[in-house]
Amino acid sequence: MVKSTTSGPIQTRATIAGVREAVALARREGRTIGLVPTMGALHAGHLRLVEEARAASGLVVVSIFVNPTQFGPNEDFKRYPRTPDADLALCEAGGAGVVFAPEVEEMYPNGPSTTFVEVPSLSDRLEGASRPGHFRGVATVVLKLFTIVQPDLAFFGAKDYQQLQVIRRMVADLDVPVDVRAVATVREPDGLAMSSRNRYLDADHRRAAVVLSKALGLASEAVREGERHADRVRQILRDSIESEPLARLDYAEVADADTLEPAVEVGPGRRAVALIAARVGPARLIDNAVLPG
Ligand code: PAF
Repeated sequence: MVKSTTSGPIQTRATIAGVREAVALARREGRTIGLVPTMGALHAGHLRLVEEARAASGLVVVSIFVNPTQFGPNEDFKRYPRTPDADLALCEAGGAGVVFAPEVEEMYPNGPSTTFVEVPSLSDRLEGASRPGHFRGVATVVLKLFTIVQPDLAFFGAKDYQQLQVIRRMVADLDVPVDVRAVATVREPDGLAMSSRNRYLDADHRRAAVVLSKALGLASEAVREGERHADRVRQILRDSIESEPLARLDYAEVADADTLEPAVEVGPGRRAVALIAARVGPARLIDNAVLPG
């Protein structure tokens, strides 16, 4: 397919019919379509997604939708940050052509959706164990977005490692004709992974939050220096998080990088990933690192 260099002012569409119309026009012009699914409250990590999408596609569509079905009853759906004006400016700066920002009623006109996509083998552990139903909500809304926009390419941040694996598996199992691209985590200068939820942190918690990336750094260093036992790497992660009084560990796991099954050994010939979730004051943060192989 031809990549076009034409670009006009950014358009916002709130309806499925509206975004389909914009995409159909771009298709008629021979442009490839890149989708960046987001929940808004965009930051430099999202900007990188949009920029990478722009480099690979003729039209970038950014969806901004705080998807209620992926939040548990006691989670932060209501207070999730919503910054529509700043989001639009960031999308424009990154080179997006269309922002699709539907209301909940547009995406779920019959109330909470009754048809769901489940990827059980990857969804019940780690984030899924702490947030039952989360990945069912994610997989369902992402498949809806794929069906609505019908992109050639879709871009997801590697910070949400398990989400990325769930989406890849869904796409493979259901033969969805989308090329899923992972984009490396963007970090603050001290190592904290960019996240919309970092906005919840006050100054003390912000300082403490760096413990997640520090723990992952120590784990990677240990493997680089010869550690081969996944259990010892888990212990390094746990000890590191527990050394920070303002952080409360949810999980620290070392898993096979594809199946997310707990790893036994790490190092050369093994593809393993370290994954952490911890509560730091009002924010529940996650981070990960693929361990040296
Ligand atoms: O990663 C996110 O922001 C969301 O989980 C996603 C993929 C946009 C689905 O709502």
